[in-house]
Amino acid sequence: MLAVSSSSYALSSQERLPVGAVDLSSLPEGVECPLLLQRTEIPSGTTTVTLKNRVIVAPMCMYSSVDGFPTPFHLVHHGQFALHGAGTIIVEASGITPSGRISPRDLGLYKEEHVAAHASLVQTAKDVSSELYMGIQLAHAGRKASTWPPYDRTPHETPYVPVSEGGWDKTVVNASSIPYGEGHLVPHELSLSEIRDIEDDFVRAADRAFRAGYDFVQIHSAHGYLLSSFCSPLANQRKDMYGGSLENRTRLLLNIVRRIRDQFPEKGLWVRLNGTDGLPEDDERESWNYESTTALASMLDDAGVDVLDISSGGTVGKLSFSSTPGYQVPGAEAAKAAGLKRMKVSSVGCLQGGTEEHPHVPGLFAEKVLQEGSADLIALGRIFLRQPTWVEDAARALLGKHAAGALQYSYTFPRLD
Ligand SMILES: Cc1cc2nc3c(=O)[nH]c(=O)nc-3n(C[C@H](O)[C@H](O)[C@H](O)COP(=O)(O)O)c2cc1C
Repeated sequence: MLAVSSSSYALSSQERLPVGAVDLSSLPEGVECPLLLQRTEIPSGTTTVTLKNRVIVAPMCMYSSVDGFPTPFHLVHHGQFALHGAGTIIVEASGITPSGRISPRDLGLYKEEHVAAHASLVQTAKDVSSELYMGIQLAHAGRKASTWPPYDRTPHETPYVPVSEGGWDKTVVNASSIPYGEGHLVPHELSLSEIRDIEDDFVRAADRAFRAGYDFVQIHSAHGYLLSSFCSPLANQRKDMYGGSLENRTRLLLNIVRRIRDQFPEKGLWVRLNGTDGLPEDDERESWNYESTTALASMLDDAGVDVLDISSGGTVGKLSFSSTPGYQVPGAEAAKAAGLKRMKVSSVGCLQGGTEEHPHVPGLFAEKVLQEGSADLIALGRIFLRQPTWVEDAARALLGKHAAGALQYSYTFPRLD
């Protein structure tokens, strides 16, 4: 049970700017607000919404749920990003079915009882941050399911969680019966009717998400989980209508997208894709690459997706590139190369810092990515775990002033400074 809502208090304040927004009228003449901190319009199905800035908290599994339910951890975790001005928050990968979770501690949206619990998470975050845009990532982990939470350092006898410990290590599934790598589980190849069930489960989970109050859902089709495995020829060697050509490999994702778009015409529908499988250059196997991303981006645009986020990794163990600033920007550029009609593109991956010239200015690199038109929005992950005030810190670094902060905090700053 939540405490009394504070929104009336927050809204009746003399400072009407939402946290994380910049008061343009207070900028000295000649000082432009960086794109990163400007309000921006994005599509949401048949409507548009205005984001208070271009910063997104990327989805990050916290492995802190019990039977898929959000816990007090999630309220505090997302509450802090909301309170410090993130324009958009994407709640972590949430299983559309119990066996679609990466671990037994994952968040979920696979049963009706989850709706009320998620509703209190959404309400809490929105209560402390007006104009917050909040979504949730819907996921199926495929052949990478039933693992131990990565922070669990207890020595376990098996690399995957057995049924006796709440796992489902004998029943993980994939597009084809190909394990992630040596020593990994051999997944069951989904039958046609099981594929249709998964499609239904995604749509049902989206329905629960919207009833819980989320503004949008992000379909997880990256990192080697189920939908991205369908897309990649490395993990999908089916001979039926879901394998072979790019159209066939992306069929499941597109079916899910089209059904959610049809059923919820005004809600936000986002997708996260791998820009590339990242095979080393000398590995000549057919894989998912930037050309595939350009082709699929165009289809997702036509299907009514609002925002496409481009990530990478997780299909093969070793990537051909390392996580340096902007390492996934080429993926966002590949999506934009499709000449998109309405869909926006976000980029992610070590975007928090400065440029080579000014390495210690948070937000400068992200601003450069936006200025150059490589992406429309910026998603950040790990930096928010260390520095939940990143939006305010970037505003101070780029503008010499705070973006609007929580009233309860910001009136104390002049004396601190
Ligand atoms: C602890 C942790 C959990 C993550 N969980 C998810 C997830 O649930 N879904 C997802 O698509 N990506 C997940 N990611 C990837 C992030 O969303 C992000 O793409 C990645 O951290 C790179 O961005 P960064 O350099 O800003 O951290 C996770 C990353 C971290 C560090």
